[in-house]
Amino acid sequence: MLPTTALLLGLTGTVLGFHVCQLIADEVSFVTDVYYPGSSSYVADNEHYATSSSQVSKCSVEPGSAEDVGIILGILGKTKTPFGIKGGGHAINQGFSSTTGVQIAMTRFIEVTYDSATQTAVIGAGNIWDDVYELLNTQGVNVVGGRATGIGVAGFTLGGGYSWLSNRYGLALDNVVAYELVVPNGTVVTVMEENDPHLFFSLKGGGNNYGIVTQFTLKTYLQGAVWGGAASYNASYMSVFNAAAVKFCSEVTDPKAAMVMMYAYASGQVLLSAMMFYDGPTPPDGIFDDFLAIPALTLDIATRPFFDLINSTSSGAVVYRSLFNDIPTLEYSESFIEGIIDELNYWGPTLSAQGAFFVGYAIEPFLPSLLTHAPVGSSAYPSSRDHVVFPTVVVLQWVSESGDDVFHDAARQTAEKLGVKGESIYPNYAIYDTPVVDMFGEEGVKRMEATRKRVDPYGVMLLTGGFKV
Ligand SMILES: Cc1cc2nc3c(=O)[nH]c(=O)nc-3n(C[C@H](O)[C@H](O)[C@H](O)COP(=O)(O)OP(=O)(O)OC[C@H]3O[C@@H](n4cnc5c(N)ncnc54)[C@H](O)[C@@H]3O)c2cc1C
Ligand SMILES: *[C@@H]1O[C@H](CO)[C@@H](O)[C@H](O)[C@H]1NC(C)=O
Ligand SMILES: *[C@@H]1O[C@H](CO)[C@@H](O)[C@H](O)[C@H]1NC(C)=O
Ligand SMILES: *[C@@H]1O[C@H](CO)[C@@H](O)[C@H](O)[C@H]1NC(C)=O
Repeated sequence: MLPTTALLLGLTGTVLGFHVCQLIADEVSFVTDVYYPGSSSYVADNEHYATSSSQVSKCSVEPGSAEDVGIILGILGKTKTPFGIKGGGHAINQGFSSTTGVQIAMTRFIEVTYDSATQTAVIGAGNIWDDVYELLNTQGVNVVGGRATGIGVAGFTLGGGYSWLSNRYGLALDNVVAYELVVPNGTVVTVMEENDPHLFFSLKGGGNNYGIVTQFTLKTYLQGAVWGGAASYNASYMSVFNAAAVKFCSEVTDPKAAMVMMYAYASGQVLLSAMMFYDGPTPPDGIFDDFLAIPALTLDIATRPFFDLINSTSSGAVVYRSLFNDIPTLEYSESFIEGIIDELNYWGPTLSAQGAFFVGYAIEPFLPSLLTHAPVGSSAYPSSRDHVVFPTVVVLQWVSESGDDVFHDAARQTAEKLGVKGESIYPNYAIYDTPVVDMFGEEGVKRMEATRKRVDPYGVMLLTGGFKV
């Protein structure tokens, strides 16, 4: 064993990393493993959806029990070692779930247990939604989770969670009944409204500020076959597409219906696409008819199990460098959509000249009742439940690291131009330097900060990336 004092004196780099990895391997039980560069587990543990979100860690750890997570946090805290916590690895900001220190991969927490008596399911923090949906489908139930393939339960739920089912049941965080959380002193706690309302509130948006979540208890709902999928269209149909989009956003009130519309620029042209969803085997007439009437370039719409709809969103394309930014939006009017198109017509060609292969804006409409499925003041995000703010997102993808600054600036500028000032920013879409007060509000941040100081008095969770309170 290394003398702890030497570690605290701040030996850095490989020496520290190596010994910390060895310390962890020595202290944990047999259900946990440590992996080094060269092993396939190490590669998988460090892998992210976007290559720009991955870093080269000293080693990776796959904890197999909550107790071992506690031991690991204890060692990382004592040695002041930077670390990353990875669920599904879809964080789009570098360093949020990656690290040059110790990479923790939650892949062994894959429990999915449905309890029909309480209509809840215990979901391990290492699951991706695809697997959760498929397992719950055998019981005829579902939970409020991700809309695209590969997304992790943990990051999605800790940051908010806009789902195909949100118009019916709220955000993912509105559906958490309990968290099993390993706090930085190594204790495993169950956090519920009843036993720790401030921590329960803070975990609903507050990401990894409070420790490592090992499982979520989520509300379940009956789920049958759904209708939907993706369609893409030539830009020559822009005006009918826009009219259909504005009409859907302003007129459809059926909570079983949901859409995401995308305005994108790739391979030198504008492309339009739509994801359509109906929570039932066939949508009533009128809801999607305008979109279905546009001649499609690609069309994959069917009545299918929920997990199959999610799996169908896989493009199969490798994502290189990528960044999102949130564009808080109050209304999807014709003029807002024209503003998006103006921005796309500017940034599409401009960024393509800098090596972009995809520039896109996703329109994400929800019903005005979206935030009424949980009490006012029940979650850190959003900072207010007075009215709905749509999380429009700009998506940039490019090839070379040398272009990073240009793309990061573009993501800021376009959000600044289109977003409504003073409205709650969505943590899971926000660029890395977004102030937390813009997501949680002043009251929210105060409550979260006080909770953080109580639960993590020595700032262990400041050693990992993410939005910090
Ligand atoms: C292609 C794509 C589609 C998306 N679609 C949607 C969508 O439809 N709706 C929506 O709301 N969002 C969507 N998102 C955003 C998504 O919610 C976030 O990227 C989310 O953080 C992903 O969670 P993850 O577990 O996969 O990510 P990770 O990168 O593994 O983690 C994200 C953050 O959570 C922390 N974390 C992970 N596990 C734990 C844990 N066990 N305990 C404590 N902290 C933890 C990490 O440290 C990190 O800061 C999408 C993202 C992508 C890339
Ligand atoms: C869209 O239509 C235009 C005009 O007909 C054509 O030149 C272009 O190649 C089409 N784009 C795609 C992606 O099919
Ligand atoms: C998901 O889709 C892929 C094809 O894109 C297919 O090979 C795979 O079997 C599907 N998985 C499930 C669980 O349906
Ligand atoms: C660890 O932290 C938890 C949560 O703040 C607290 O309840 C518990 O008493 C602490 N345990 C020790 C040993 O400090």
